[in-house]
Amino acid sequence: MERLDLYKCDICQNMVEIMIAGGGELVCCGQPMQKIEAKEYEDAMLEKHIPVFVKNQNNEDEVRVGEVLHPMTDEHHIVFIETISEDRNKVQLQYLHPGEEPKMLLNEKPYKLLARELCNLHGLWEGKSD
Ligand SMILES: [Fe+2]
Repeated sequence: MERLDLYKCDICQNMVEIMIAGGGELVCCGQPMQKIEAKEYEDAMLEKHIPVFVKNQNNEDEVRVGEVLHPMTDEHHIVFIETISEDRNKVQLQYLHPGEEPKMLLNEKPYKLLARELCNLHGLWEGKSD
């Protein structure tokens, strides 16, 4: 278990992010929580989930899901986007809601950042900046 790892409960769908890693096992609804592994590759035929780093029309740095914007309907949407610095000392988190665009403006230069996002139907995905 490492700082910023994500775990979820398969029964109630609770999801937690590790702030400080201890040695113990995470338990929810009476059973161990499962570590969520982000996916990095996807089927070219399906909608895009990998977060990408781009400049928007105002020349600001942002993260988008994905190369073609992911749907944001009640039934199928991106729940959050999060970036993590390479040394895992800095994070930026944006929760999203149906009807919004699946984007997050970055507070800092997109240098050696990992971006991850959660789709309510298709799980956790990640992409890296240059
Ligand atoms: Fe999806």
